[in-house]
Amino acid sequence: MASLEDLIPTVNKLQDVMYDAGIDTFDLPILAVVGSQSSGKSSILETLVGKDFLPRGTGIVTRRPLVLQLNNIATDSPIIKEHPSLQSATPAESEQSNGIGGKHELEDREITLEDHLRKNTENYQAPNTEEWGEFLHLPGRRFYDFKEIRKEIEKETARIAGKNKGISKVPINLKVYSPRVLNLTLVDLPGITKVPIGEQPPDIEKQIKNLILEYVATPSCIILAVSPANVDLVNSESLKLAREVDPLGKRTIGVITKLDLMDSGTNALDILSGKLYPLKLGFVGVVNRSQQDIQLNKTVEEALDNEEEYFNRHPVYRTISNRCGTRYLAKLLNRTLMSHIRDKLPDIKARLNTLIGQTEQELTSFGDTGPIKNENRAGLVLQLMNKFATNFISSIDGTSS
Ligand code: GDP
Ligand code: NA
Ligand code: MG
Repeated sequence: MASLEDLIPTVNKLQDVMYDAGIDTFDLPILAVVGSQSSGKSSILETLVGKDFLPRGTGIVTRRPLVLQLNNIATDSPIIKEHPSLQSATPAESEQSNGIGGKHELEDREITLEDHLRKNTENYQAPNTEEWGEFLHLPGRRFYDFKEIRKEIEKETARIAGKNKGISKVPINLKVYSPRVLNLTLVDLPGITKVPIGEQPPDIEKQIKNLILEYVATPSCIILAVSPANVDLVNSESLKLAREVDPLGKRTIGVITKLDLMDSGTNALDILSGKLYPLKLGFVGVVNRSQQDIQLNKTVEEALDNEEEYFNRHPVYRTISNRCGTRYLAKLLNRTLMSHIRDKLPDIKARLNTLIGQTEQELTSFGDTGPIKNENRAGLVLQLMNKFATNFISSIDGTSS
């Protein structure tokens, strides 16, 4: 029997199958990170992953959507393992299960987010030393060195979006497997910008906004609206944009970064307690690494400890410290995404049934009326989608299809 914990890995698998079949996945549940440039989006993602792996720099660094699937390898869906055909959904994965994927280098172990989340629980297990990233455009290649992931993102960005400052809607898909992450599927988007710089097209603001809207306009998207605490909330670009597509604030989570940079004597308690701006899912305050911390090579682990200390010791925030910080944010996002997927299961099922119908029709029109063969790509995709529609989704939502 499938459990709630299986929901995110299952949707991740579905996302891969659809990607493989060239079907757009905008309407699958996802968390979209939205905010103005330098509001702290990348910092949040790196802390959630527990690694430095995103390109850095000034101006528009994120120029293609980065769809980031975090897979907790300790709790990954046992159901997926029960279906060998689903395990070989992509060449990458069949190679992986045969143990042929990429080189195998172990890194010095860093204790990160998941360690801290589990540290004090009874069934804490010593973490696996293996964690790696894998791009959908480079099937079968495991990146054990996260600095190489950064280089590959830069290379892939330039390949499609050009070397200058252009943006592209074509996403980069990266999966991270680690015992220390919580299951999450996020998309990092270009920062909202007002002024074109250098060789940017004059309509860059509009281009970026349209790109963000493609993700956040669909009701299956949870919006992570990032706003820096040192900018007045009424001027928050992310909240303005979120309000356009989610006027009742039902699927927006507010994240306030840079609390440490507020003018002394001021604080964000009213915002964080939901008194200033209504969001059903609330606001979470975080303190990420500063530019100086990064220059001094402060690790994500240290940053998480410092952040916790900051909230526990703060004269005002310590009263709400159990609802502050990136560790809390990770848990909140994981829970929110799970219950969101659960709510969206009937929609996903309906969408799949439509897709299955369309694929069947296409196969028939190509004259392929015989039994579907495994080497037939469309046939395989069809089989996989059928499996999702019947086995997975039905067993999770408890209804039969
Ligand atoms: P992005 O453009 O939204 O992805 O923003 P980044 O994550 O790249 O952050 C932009 C700059 O702000 C970097 O120099 C970060 O080190 C810094 N920064 C981000 N969050 C915080 C924070 O909470 N406190 C401080 N002091 N600096 C932060
Ligand atoms: Na913003
Ligand atoms: Mg960024």
